[in-house]
Amino acid sequence: MADKKVIAVVGATGAQGGGLVRAIQADKDSRFMARAITRNVNSDKAKALAASGAEVVAANVDDEASLRRAFEGAYGAFCVTFFWDHLSVEREQAEAAAMARAAKATGVQHVIWSTLDDTRKFIPLDDPRMPTLHGKYKVPHFDGKGEADQYFRDAGVPTTFLLTVFYWDNFIYFGSGPKAGPDGTLALTMPMGDKKLPSMAAEDIGKCAYGIFQRPDLIGRTVGIAGGHLTGEQMAAGMSKALGVPVRYTDVPPEVYRSFGFPGADDMGNMFQFKRDFNEYYCNSRSIEFARSLNPALQSYEQWLAANAKAIPLG
Ligand SMILES: NC(=O)c1ccc[n+]([C@@H]2O[C@H](COP(=O)([O-])OP(=O)(O)OC[C@H]3O[C@@H](n4cnc5c(N)ncnc54)[C@H](OP(=O)(O)O)[C@@H]3O)[C@@H](O)[C@H]2O)c1
Repeated sequence: MADKKVIAVVGATGAQGGGLVRAIQADKDSRFMARAITRNVNSDKAKALAASGAEVVAANVDDEASLRRAFEGAYGAFCVTFFWDHLSVEREQAEAAAMARAAKATGVQHVIWSTLDDTRKFIPLDDPRMPTLHGKYKVPHFDGKGEADQYFRDAGVPTTFLLTVFYWDNFIYFGSGPKAGPDGTLALTMPMGDKKLPSMAAEDIGKCAYGIFQRPDLIGRTVGIAGGHLTGEQMAAGMSKALGVPVRYTDVPPEVYRSFGFPGADDMGNMFQFKRDFNEYYCNSRSIEFARSLNPALQSYEQWLAANAKAIPLG
């Protein structure tokens, strides 16, 4: 125990970080031990982590001093931000910068920054194919993370930049599941045309991150992972089979998706359009084979559905 290297995990009670903590704990011969970071060490989830053997420490990504305390003595740090909690690129970037500085100050030897592409490198702000949002972004929750890569580089932190993908869990927790249309038939609506959406079980992101911490040769590199590359038709067909009720795929133009009215619909509409229109790049940058090399237990969409389809709300 004493000679194990500590991995400090931001978001340890959540999807990505939680998967990483569980991956470390599941490997009884691990050279690593998890330090779970939470804002509230007394929450039920935090207590469950402590009961499972993780060291649990309090920190807030908005409080750099607390991050320094949480990273102190750690070999590795898994860094993630929580865009959908506040919808602010500026806040997300301040949090990323604070994590980079805290990692530098404490001498962390391997950081994983959970990032996404800066889509403005593909579709400049003056390109009228999709609206510019908040004056500065095409896909705010992507662009802010991609721009924040530079904070880790500028701080001189040994970092692996991890490009993640759409979670299948969004069908359960993020309102992205199928909805009944006017004729009562369930429809999975995404503006992806016939293009493939790289996607995966959220739990596998953490498992892949665990694989990355065992690969110091990946420091300084940008790597992308996925559990599947699936068209909307394939996703809907998989759901139909797993649920035993018809689910059809409905392709809508991105401008229609942007007008759906939920918070961040414009961001999500631009996101899907980016993934559709730059599909070759997007798929090539998220490799299923590479993800499986990091995490041999990588779930396929069918495996994920077999375990989780019943939890998808149908409405
Ligand atoms: N949904 C997708 O398909 C998808 C795909 C790719 C990337 N992403 C990105 O993933 C990120 C979210 O990661 P996730 O899904 O793992 O999050 P999550 O499941 O929502 O978990 C967030 C956890 O982080 C903690 N947290 C929240 N605010 C915090 C703060 N200020 N300081 C410290 N901890 C805080 C919370 O724990 P406590 O309450 O215990 O503190 C919470 O349990 C977003 O930035 C999103 O853009 C999402």
